[in-house]
Amino acid sequence: MSELYSNKKILAPMVRAGRTPLRLLCLKYGADLCYTEEIVDKKLIESTRIVNEALGTIDYRNGDDIILRLAPEEKGRCILQIGTNSGEKAAKIARIVGDDVAGIDVNMGCPKPFSIHCGMGAALLTKTDTIIEILTSLKAAAKVPVSCKIRVLDNREDTIKLVKEIEKCGVSALGVHGRRRDERQPDQCRVEEVKEVAETITSIPIITNGFSGEIDRFEDIEKWREATGTSSIMIARKALSTPSIFRKEGILDKYKDIENFLELACQYDESYTMTKYVVQRILGGDQEHDPRGKATVAAGSVLQICKAFGMEDVYNKWKDERKKKESKKRARVDD
Ligand code: FNR
Repeated sequence: MSELYSNKKILAPMVRAGRTPLRLLCLKYGADLCYTEEIVDKKLIESTRIVNEALGTIDYRNGDDIILRLAPEEKGRCILQIGTNSGEKAAKIARIVGDDVAGIDVNMGCPKPFSIHCGMGAALLTKTDTIIEILTSLKAAAKVPVSCKIRVLDNREDTIKLVKEIEKCGVSALGVHGRRRDERQPDQCRVEEVKEVAETITSIPIITNGFSGEIDRFEDIEKWREATGTSSIMIARKALSTPSIFRKEGILDKYKDIENFLELACQYDESYTMTKYVVQRILGGDQEHDPRGKATVAAGSVLQICKAFGMEDVYNKWKDERKKKESKKRARVDD
């Protein structure tokens, strides 16, 4: 049984949000593992791996775009999630990333048209042959454990048939979002169906997901893990609106979460759009009611977002730090 995925509280994959600063923040608060946002295979295949000395990170970049940035504190605790429809491309990614990440997960649950349209995400759920091809190719090429994240199917028998096939591919864990492809919040998570998966598949950890609407406190995380009989639980929306949900000492005031997030966004030089997205999700309704929220909405740069929270000095501190390291590196090269 894979230790990596057993008995864990996990930050779920989230496009635009599951990047370096939020992942690090959740790990600092107490999450055991974090997933990257879904990265479509082509983007990683076309990227270049760079050791970023100024930040101390490993970057996968495409021009100015940071496709994936991995910080040292994530080593052994960050799972790369990919979007793919092909075993060949998935295997290529496994060879590219080697053991920079702790594991590789395949998204088989995303119901969004852009994903389905390309035969990725939830489109895979009805194509068992393609799932087998992807997982076995990935497993053969990967240096690290392989997993996938599915939704439950429209009937229970089909879900059980599918998860048995997935288990045979030799994956190290299986994530199960307890909603069907066409279900969304406030549709209830199908606790009994997830439970049935956990009772059927006992050779690998099952990671349950879909309970953010029911999680208000740290203790609720364990409650839902127990209710589903799964080994681990991953949290998406609640971790985005309240990252400190992973603190066993209790959640923090949202403005403390924002400050802690912004410190990491500045340290790891996160882009303006991604930084603003997460801050707005933590702010929620305060975007309309609080002066700091309104200033965030109006902000056009990370510096302006920082100013909204009186954190201009933090922004400048990290900017200076990067500059110092870059000029040291330049001096070494010139020598
Ligand atoms: C998601 N979800 C998602 N799932 C996935 O497998 N890969 C991804 O990149 C994303 N991206 C994403 C972005 C955002 C903003 C949200 C809110 C959700 C789905 C997510 O991981 C999870 O399965 C669902 O949100 C249900 O879990 P919660 O929110 O109830 O904890």
